[in-house]
Amino acid sequence: MIPAVIIAKKRDGLDLRAEEIDYMISGYAKGTIPDYQMSALAMAILLQGMDHREVADLTDAMIRSGSTLHRVSDLPRVDKHSTGGLGDKTSLILAPLLACCELDVPMISGRGLGITGGTLDKLESIPGYRCNLSDEESESQLRKIHCFITGATDHLVPADKKLYGLRDVTGTVPSIALITASIMSKKIAETLDALVLDVKCGSGAFLATEERASELARSLIAIGKRAGVMTSALITDMDQPLGAMVGNACEVDESLDVLRGQGPLEVRELTIELGARVLMMTQRAPDLMTARVQLREHLDSGRAMERFEAMVHMQGGDLRQPRPLGRRHPWTAPRSGTITKLDGQKIGQAIIAMGGGRTVAGQSIDPSVGLLFERRLGDTVHRGDVVVRIFCDNGLRMEEAIRLLDSAIVIDDAPPRTQVLWKDFDDTNAS
Ligand code: URA
Repeated sequence: MIPAVIIAKKRDGLDLRAEEIDYMISGYAKGTIPDYQMSALAMAILLQGMDHREVADLTDAMIRSGSTLHRVSDLPRVDKHSTGGLGDKTSLILAPLLACCELDVPMISGRGLGITGGTLDKLESIPGYRCNLSDEESESQLRKIHCFITGATDHLVPADKKLYGLRDVTGTVPSIALITASIMSKKIAETLDALVLDVKCGSGAFLATEERASELARSLIAIGKRAGVMTSALITDMDQPLGAMVGNACEVDESLDVLRGQGPLEVRELTIELGARVLMMTQRAPDLMTARVQLREHLDSGRAMERFEAMVHMQGGDLRQPRPLGRRHPWTAPRSGTITKLDGQKIGQAIIAMGGGRTVAGQSIDPSVGLLFERRLGDTVHRGDVVVRIFCDNGLRMEEAIRLLDSAIVIDDAPPRTQVLWKDFDDTNAS
């Protein structure tokens, strides 16, 4: 087969055959298809889309690029995955929380992608934390404490590991086909029984409208069901960051607050809503109310926190060592009024500009930079009030972040709007 012919076929809007998709994906994982051809194909897929059969073939090809994980017990295997957002830290809390409910949680997560942060980058701001567990290490950890959070490796969904890094820096993230195959290849390779998806919608998500987010949810659920994984989704608000913190080290701090039974209410509530869907699917709770009570109890009793500490310890991390945090600078309101917009694209770019995300593949990031939102959408502010605190040690980078925040945050005279944090996705049409 000739890679350029396959790329041109998709460029011209034609459907790719399973063999063509497999040729490109397996070749890319092995190194016989170079980055430039894969980037061209990813861009063609983004622009032309893929039908359901092609997305299923793409997902299968990505799973086949490596091995899959084995069951280690009779407990249901469950997970949660987000489509990507700002301040999106629920995975850090949910993995140990679900592990407290007699469930195995083999979580394979990702790094920062486009303007959004990544669970692995956040966890690596804990000194010593390893995101490259071998299969033996992850299985042994699952047997002992029922959860781990690690990354795709050279033999576990290696195609996603490479393609994810490539998409991050080539403007090829917001494609329903590529997001579906990326997420579902990792999740199906985990050999799951149940999966809950947090499909983000708004300016800080890859898909800004509810219509597009629903399309993504439908695609994800259909691939999950096809693989025999019970899959449900919430469509959740990303018109503003989740919680107060956006960054790497600072999001770990906020997650620890929630694990201690404190922290921002919206982070706690969304984590509980996602977890409750998993408890329902696995019949760990008879109804959502009971599920919520069960999850709140694990947070408030400190059990989820203990499990998180055990997970970090087993993965080499040391929570007693200080996590890096840049010097603080205030961003103040230039006028009085109501905060009517927190543009997620620009906020994400501000984090990247400070070094908290990547501009080229494989770049190391600065975990100490971040933003602390003192005010939220709809809040009334007076001129000079601190709206955001910026964490950054580098003056030039901070200046650039300030410029981006100047255009990201809109304050005017409009009345406050009510934000809906989450809604259930009705999956009756996903099959
Ligand atoms: N999370 C993933 O793992 N992949 C994507 O493409 C988006 C979010």
